[in-house]
Amino acid sequence: MVRPVGRDMTTVGFIGSGKIGGTVARLAVAAGYDVVLSNSRGPETLADLVADLGPKARAATPAEAAQAGDLVVLSVPLHAYRVVPAAAVAGKPVLDTNNYYPQRDGRIAELDAGSTTSSALLQEHLAGDAAVVKVFNNINWTQLGSLARPSGAADRSALPVAADDARAKEAVVAFLDAIGYDAVDTGSLADSWRQQPDTPVYGVPYAGGPAPAEKIRDALAEAGRG
Ligand SMILES: NC(=O)c1ccc[n+]([C@@H]2O[C@H](COP(=O)([O-])OP(=O)(O)OC[C@H]3O[C@@H](n4cnc5c(N)ncnc54)[C@H](OP(=O)(O)O)[C@@H]3O)[C@@H](O)[C@H]2O)c1
Repeated sequence: MVRPVGRDMTTVGFIGSGKIGGTVARLAVAAGYDVVLSNSRGPETLADLVADLGPKARAATPAEAAQAGDLVVLSVPLHAYRVVPAAAVAGKPVLDTNNYYPQRDGRIAELDAGSTTSSALLQEHLAGDAAVVKVFNNINWTQLGSLARPSGAADRSALPVAADDARAKEAVVAFLDAIGYDAVDTGSLADSWRQQPDTPVYGVPYAGGPAPAEKIRDALAEAGRG
């Protein structure tokens, strides 16, 4: 179980600060969060992004970013998911943006067989120490940056969110709201195959327009395996 959701969730740590991680960081800074970025090559290689994001951003190692974040965003190629240090994220929501692309990640037999989900594999790696929340995986990074809207805006988009831990899900829904998105509860990590690549909700109906949440629910219901 993660810590209770609170107003003290002010810092977001990033393991992976590329297209998706960097975009979430930009939205988080705009919403008033502090961000701690990391990548595989070292903090000095993030100097330009940190300068661009301003005084609420700094760069660190993945372990330091994981330790500093009240929320921790994992946004790396899926094959690198074990880089998350379980002890450093204990008691925290870990926002999993990752997708399985065999041509990039290599073959993962359980995912090919459909016997688990990529987020459940991450949760297994973290054991019971942290709570994985699947989010941001179905939206293209450029649209993620451009479609954020204030709460209540008529053209606000919604994103699917899956997790086993209710508090972690609640924390992520609150974070989404702060950075400009509504949320649709997709269920558990076992259910999160419904938002993995090649499903109806992947990359399509988040984009504003009337009733985006209903469109997402419809798309989730249409998903089929195999
Ligand atoms: N691009 C999209 O529109 C999109 C949309 C939804 C979901 N996704 C998924 O989100 C994840 C990230 O995608 P992206 O497009 O943001 O990728 P990206 O732009 O290539 O960024 C990947 C980031 O992960 C870091 N990284 C790689 N290996 C690492 C390791 N071992 N330890 C620490 N950091 C590491 C990279 O750092 P270095 O550069 O230093 O190696 C980089 O900061 C992927 O799983 C992708 O499928 C992408």
